[in-house]
Amino acid sequence: MSTKFEKVTAIRGMNDILPGESWQWERLESILRTWLAQYGYLNMRTPILEQTRLFARGIGEVTDIVEKEMYTFRMSEDAEQLTMRPEFTAGVVRAAIEHNITYDRPQRVYSMGQVFRHERPQKGRYRQFHQVSIEALGFAGPDIDAEQIIMLSRLWKLLGLKDIHLELNSLGQVEERKAHREALIKHLEAHIDVLDEDGKRRMYTNPLRVLDTKNPAMQEMANNAPKLFDFLGEESKAHFQEICTRLEQAGIPYTINPRLVRGLDYYNLTVFEWVTGSLGAQATVCGGGRYDGLFTLLGGKPTPAVGFAIGLERLLALMEQAESVSAPSEADIYVIHQGDEAARRAVQIAELCRDQGWRVIVHAGSASFKSQFKRADISGAQVALILGEAEVKEGTISLKPLRLADNGMMLEQVTVSQDAVVAELQKRI
Ligand code: HAM
Repeated sequence: MSTKFEKVTAIRGMNDILPGESWQWERLESILRTWLAQYGYLNMRTPILEQTRLFARGIGEVTDIVEKEMYTFRMSEDAEQLTMRPEFTAGVVRAAIEHNITYDRPQRVYSMGQVFRHERPQKGRYRQFHQVSIEALGFAGPDIDAEQIIMLSRLWKLLGLKDIHLELNSLGQVEERKAHREALIKHLEAHIDVLDEDGKRRMYTNPLRVLDTKNPAMQEMANNAPKLFDFLGEESKAHFQEICTRLEQAGIPYTINPRLVRGLDYYNLTVFEWVTGSLGAQATVCGGGRYDGLFTLLGGKPTPAVGFAIGLERLLALMEQAESVSAPSEADIYVIHQGDEAARRAVQIAELCRDQGWRVIVHAGSASFKSQFKRADISGAQVALILGEAEVKEGTISLKPLRLADNGMMLEQVTVSQDAVVAELQKRI
C-alpha cells in the first residue's frame, strides 16, 4: 500500500519567483546596479536576522512594524529575541557603527533583498517582499537629499515610468517636533470623541501617527490639526527650501504633503514618497528621508544620514504596465539528435558552440524528432542543429532556422560537414 502525502505549500504572502518571470527580476536588478554605480553607491550586505531590540529601538516601539508585523522568535527560552529584518536601514546603521565605516569619510551604500512584514496580504502587499535600500551615511545635506530624489527621477525615466509622483515633507528637528507634539495632543484631546481605538491608544505615544489615519471619520480632525511645518525653525526651513530649489532646477515636480509622516520613527527633516495612480491601494513605490538621529539611537557617534527604499514587487508591477518586453529566449541553439552515437556527438558539438559564447541546449533523453522540434521551438532558439543516424554516418550536421532572420526572411535549412558547423552558425547568429 502506498502512502499519499499531503502537498506542502508556500507560506501565505510569500511568493515563488518562477523561471518564466525571474528574467524580469534579473533585468531590473542589473539596471538598478548600473544606476547605483553611476551615483557612487557600493553594495553592503547585512544578515537577515538581527536582535529584535535593534528594530524596536531603531524603527520605534510604537509603529505598526514593531507592534504587530515583525517575525520574531527565540531559539530557546533564555536566548535573545531575534527578528527577520522588516527593512534594511536599522541593520545597515548597526553594521556601519560596528565596523566604523564612516570614520574617515562618508559612505554611499545600498542593499538589495528580502524583507519580512506580517501584514495582511493583498495585491502589491506581501509578507516577504524585496527592497533596494539606498543609504548615504555621514552627509548632512540638503544637497544629498536632493541628489537622491534626482537620482530616483532618473531611474523612473530609465524604466519608462510616467505615472509616478513625488510627495515631500519636512518633519523638522526633535525640539520643533516636541513643540508641535504638545499642540497636537491638545488638538487630539479636544477631538477625543472622533478618535478610533488606534487613535486613542496612540494619542500620547505617537500623536503624529494618529494623523496618518485612513479612517474617514477622522479626516476632518486630521486636516485641521496644527501643522508641523508651522513649528519649524529657520534652519529646518532653509534645509527644506534648498531641496525644493534644487528639485525645481532639475525640473522635478512635487507636492508638499504636510500629512506625510512615514511609518518609521527614525526620520527628521526631509521625508518623501513616490506614489503612483496605477497600482490601486498599494500606491507607494518608494519611501525615504533623513535619519540624523539613528546612529546615536543605536549607540554610535552622531552621524547625519539620508536614504530611501524601493519596493521591487511594486516597481515590477508598474514596469509591466508601462512596457511590453517579451521574455528572452532560453537558448540560441537547440541540439536535436537520434541514436546513441548522435547523442554523444551532440554533446561535443554543443561544447564547441559554447566556446563561441552561444547559449546551447542539448535535448536530454531520447524522443521523436517531432517532439524534439516542439521543445526547440518553445526554447526560443534561433537555430536547431540536427544530428540523425545518417548525419553521424556521413560526418555532417543539419541546421534548421527556427526564427525569421533580421531582414524578415526565413533562411534555408542546410547540411554541412561537422567541422564547418561553427562557421555556418556564425553567419546565422
Ligand atoms: P518603507 O516605506 O517602510 O520604508 O518601505 C519602502 C517601500 O517598500 C515601500 O514604499 C513599498 O514600495 C515597499 N513595501 C513596504 N511594505 C511592503 C509590503 N508589505 N509588500 C510589498 N512592498 C512593500 C523603509 O523600509 C525604509 N527603510 C526606507 C528608508 C531607507 N529610509 C531611509 N533609508
